[in-house]
Amino acid sequence: MTLKITPLSGTIGAEISGIDLRNLSNSEFDAVHRAFLDHAVLCFRDQDLTPDDQIAFARRWGEIHDHPYLNGLPDHPEIIEIVKEAGERNRFGAYWHTDQIFTPTPAMATMLYAKEVPPVGGDTMFASLTSAYDALSDGMKAMASRLRTFNLYDKQSPRSKRMAEKIPNRETAAEPATHPLVRIHPETKKPALYVNGMPTTTHFVGMTQDESQPLIRHFLKHATRPEFTCRIRWSPGTLGIWDNRCLLHMALDDYPDYRRVMHRITIKGDATIGIHDLEAAE
Ligand SMILES: [Fe+2]
Repeated sequence: MTLKITPLSGTIGAEISGIDLRNLSNSEFDAVHRAFLDHAVLCFRDQDLTPDDQIAFARRWGEIHDHPYLNGLPDHPEIIEIVKEAGERNRFGAYWHTDQIFTPTPAMATMLYAKEVPPVGGDTMFASLTSAYDALSDGMKAMASRLRTFNLYDKQSPRSKRMAEKIPNRETAAEPATHPLVRIHPETKKPALYVNGMPTTTHFVGMTQDESQPLIRHFLKHATRPEFTCRIRWSPGTLGIWDNRCLLHMALDDYPDYRRVMHRITIKGDATIGIHDLEAAE
């Protein structure tokens, strides 16, 4: 088999074929890693992985992150099982976001392995924050590079309250995290417009919520322009992995009558660096 890379859109995303994730040589992993940096989100079809196989593949990317609010599978705590039952109205991840922006060291990558999916619907969409930054005017780039976002895990939201009920012993109050709005990718060194929708990104440091929110909404609308996006259509056995340092993603909630089960692993990330931190270090 030879590894083949097929782009998913003109901007981001690629499907990798000709590869078995259970038996990946070092040179194949290097090629996959290069494709990850080039395309930001990858998918692999028809993979037959046990939880141990998925964990072994995840460990090649870095250290596995323990989610502070979600419990893992009983025998494989590294894996969070995301289940949406037919008819359920729990919209997990059904809004544009980047994982864990509410922590000082957000997840580098997130991996989903599709176990059970609807016959149609339930795709995940991705948007390139690198393309979003590149498309800003010079004036807006200069202004954005001076801003820091204030991000909070909203423990008052209905979703957080539900989680707190399920996991009574877990600490649900999070410290806020601030990040540069223009984040430099630690590997590609490309700037990205690192922003989440409300309610996670509440405001810019040194500005009020009233002042910040129109601008946050503007950046989010700009970053999710259709030409900056791609989507993964899942089938059982599809594994997707994406780079949270330069992407937003959203799970589409368009399959009310079906069950969907995904196995998620997140890979630990670094503290964020801004464009000015990079200039200061040079
Ligand atoms: Fe997510």
